[in-house]
Amino acid sequence: MSERALTIAIDGPAASGKGTLARRLAAHFGLPHLDTGLLYRATACALLDEGRPLDDIPAAVAAARGLALADFDEARLRTRELGEAASVVAAIPDVRAALIDLQRGFAARPEGAVLDGRDIGTVICPAAPVKIFVTASAETRAQRRALELAARGEKVDYASILADVRQRDERDSARSAAPLKIASDAVRLDTTDLDIEAAFEAARDIVLDKLTLAARSD
Ligand code: CDP
Repeated sequence: MSERALTIAIDGPAASGKGTLARRLAAHFGLPHLDTGLLYRATACALLDEGRPLDDIPAAVAAARGLALADFDEARLRTRELGEAASVVAAIPDVRAALIDLQRGFAARPEGAVLDGRDIGTVICPAAPVKIFVTASAETRAQRRALELAARGEKVDYASILADVRQRDERDSARSAAPLKIASDAVRLDTTDLDIEAAFEAARDIVLDKLTLAARSD
């Protein structure tokens, strides 16, 4: 396995903890990390900044094509408003298509990479040697998101965050373009009852198991 790129694909629903896990795995294995949700958030942000509606397809595609990985203002992009807006533009097939090369280019680094999103294991990196699908109950995810937004200074109300999480699950799973679904060769990791450390250890062990299996088959 040592000569093969270690591409780790992490997918899962809103606020499942996939971003934190992806960052931790990337640091642990010494790999670059791309949070692909930021691409959809940045696309939505560009439209809102131009005063355009989120269903303006040519403008959305132009915004997606104009993204550069270095430009992200994460404090701005990680707001609740942009999470919702991102899931609207992410349902536009041409927007998704406009972002494929950027993501695959990142994933093709010789040493490998960690990417997290909704369609990494199914569409962006279907040949990734390690795929993890991170889940947690909607209630747990809403609690985590409420804490995260409160820590960023946003005013939060648990009931409406839970409603957002459910609506986003529905929109991301029901869309026809690259819907959120588990890849047939992904390992499911339910983090409902796991703290960050325990979830990281479980994810790290999934990666190590895959590496051991791949080394045996070499
Ligand atoms: O952190 P959270 O899971 O709430 O959001 P995110 O990963 O930043 O993604 C925001 C939205 O972008 C999601 O609800 C998806 O609709 C969309 N997205 C996507 O469609 N495909 C990806 N690879 C990543 C995000």
